[in-house]
Amino acid sequence: MDKKVDLRTEILLGKDLPEEVIKMMEDQRVKEYGENTKDFRNKERESTFFFLKGDDEIKAFGMLKPVTLYYKDRSYPIMGIANVIAIEKSKGWGKVLMQKITEYLEINIIPGMGNTYSGNFEFYKKCGYTFVPDLLQRMVYVKDNGKEETTETHTEEGEDYSMFIYDSQNILKEVVEGDKRVVIKVPFW
Ligand SMILES: CC(C)(COP(=O)(O)OP(=O)(O)OC[C@H]1O[C@@H](n2cnc3c(N)ncnc32)[C@H](O)[C@@H]1OP(=O)(O)O)[C@@H](O)C(=O)NCCC(=O)NCCS
Repeated sequence: MDKKVDLRTEILLGKDLPEEVIKMMEDQRVKEYGENTKDFRNKERESTFFFLKGDDEIKAFGMLKPVTLYYKDRSYPIMGIANVIAIEKSKGWGKVLMQKITEYLEINIIPGMGNTYSGNFEFYKKCGYTFVPDLLQRMVYVKDNGKEETTETHTEEGEDYSMFIYDSQNILKEVVEGDKRVVIKVPFW
C-alpha cells in the first residue's frame, strides 16, 4: 500500500448520507455491476456506511445493514455486510476498509455476514472472514405476505456463491453448525 496516503474513515448512518455521496455510490455500482440494485434513500436509512478516505478522496466504501436471523426458536441480530467497493483495485483499500468494518463489529459485539461470489473468496479470507459453504442454501427470505423466496433467485447461474461471516464471539455457533433453515424477513442485502 502507498504509505504516503493519510487514511481516515468516516462512518455515517444511511439517513444522514449527503445526496452527492449517494450518487457517487450509485454511479460506482453501475460501473461495477452494470446496474444499481440498492435504494439508499429509502431502504438503508438505518444502515451504517463506512467511507475510507485518503487525500480527500473516497478510496473504498461499504455498508452494514441491521438484519435479524431467525433460527429454530431464537432470533439473532447481525449486521449484513454489503456494498463493499474499492474505487481502485489492488491498492490495499478494500482490506483497510474491511479492517474498520471488523473493528466496528468487535466493538458492538455483533456478528457480520455477507454473500459473495468465488472471485472474492480469497479477499474476504485475507480480511479474516470465514466461509460457511452450506449456509446460503439454508437461507430463506419470508416476505410480509408469508411467501418464501430461496437463494436461487438471487445468485447468478454458474457462479459459486457463499456466505462469509465474522463472529469472534461464536454467537452464531448454533446457526452455523446446524442444518435447519435460517429465516430472514428482509430481502438479501
Ligand atoms: C473486492 C474488492 C473490494 C477488494 O478490494 P481491493 O482494494 O482490490 O483489495 P486489496 O488490495 O485490499 O486486497 C487485500 C488482499 O486480498 C487479495 N485479493 C484482493 N482481491 C482478490 C481476488 N479477487 N483474488 C485473490 N486475492 C485477492 C490481495 O491480493 C491482498 O492480499 P495481501 O493482503 O496478501 O496483499 C474490490 O476488488 C472491488 O471493489 N471489487 C468489485 C466490487 C465487489 O465485488 N465487492 C465485493 C462485494 S461482496
